[in-house]
Amino acid sequence: MKEFEQARLEQDWESYTPEHHAIWRALFHRQEAILARRACQNFLDGLKALGVEAEAIPDFRRLNEALERATRWRIVAVPGLVADDVFFEHLAHRRFPSTCFIRRPDQLDYLQEPDIFHDIFGHVPMLMNPVFADYMEAYGRGGLKALRLHNLEHLARLYWYTVEFGLIATPDGIRIYGSGIVSSKGESIYCLEDPKPNRVAFDLLRVMRTRYRIDAYQESYFVISSFEQLFGATQPDFTPYYAELARLSDLDPGDVLPSDRLLRGNPA
Ligand code: PHE
Ligand code: FE
Repeated sequence: MKEFEQARLEQDWESYTPEHHAIWRALFHRQEAILARRACQNFLDGLKALGVEAEAIPDFRRLNEALERATRWRIVAVPGLVADDVFFEHLAHRRFPSTCFIRRPDQLDYLQEPDIFHDIFGHVPMLMNPVFADYMEAYGRGGLKALRLHNLEHLARLYWYTVEFGLIATPDGIRIYGSGIVSSKGESIYCLEDPKPNRVAFDLLRVMRTRYRIDAYQESYFVISSFEQLFGATQPDFTPYYAELARLSDLDPGDVLPSDRLLRGNPA
């Protein structure tokens, strides 16, 4: 029994078939072309420094060497979505839980649950950045606290609108750093170039008030000006923020407030 459980916690890289690697290759090539001028430089640099490549599904053992050297993070294999407390414990200890399976060929464009392409291609490059790496650890500790304070809903929105769907303003225009976007062909273009969605300058409480949808492109994206800004804004103890949020109404994903600073998208 013990051995069985242990086995489930290994990536078992040797078990991937040529078909599995082919799906990875297709996804990788597609995103590589789209992201060259759409993802932020930190993401592109992280991808390269990790040695994540088109040829094959990455081997966690190899990735972990680069990741541990750069920021002391490590990837751990998990079977799928894990319980909130387990997830936060991992992050708080600089361990990123990743799925191991890859989507089917008919799911290249969309998949509701995370797979290895989303988890590794989407999340791990940003963990090579020291500031973002520290933000993710702090988020893990903040998650454990939010659980105790019964405030997970507010904190989960912060993860959603930064780690998963975050944008960053650069001198060259808006760029993507969110994992949910970089692993999606359609949304990588939509979030930057479509006139429809709101692109709102990041404001911590504004983000934590805003509901989100998991089954459609986002109606609003929040744009940070730097990772230092994001890290700085999230350093204070959130306990008073949670008290304030309890008095503020939730916002719908597409709502715009008079106090929002809206940014223009990039030319298509
Ligand atoms: N400072 C937050 C708290 O006290 C923790 C946190 C850090 C949350 C970074 C998110 C991101 O709860
Ligand atoms: Fe994710």
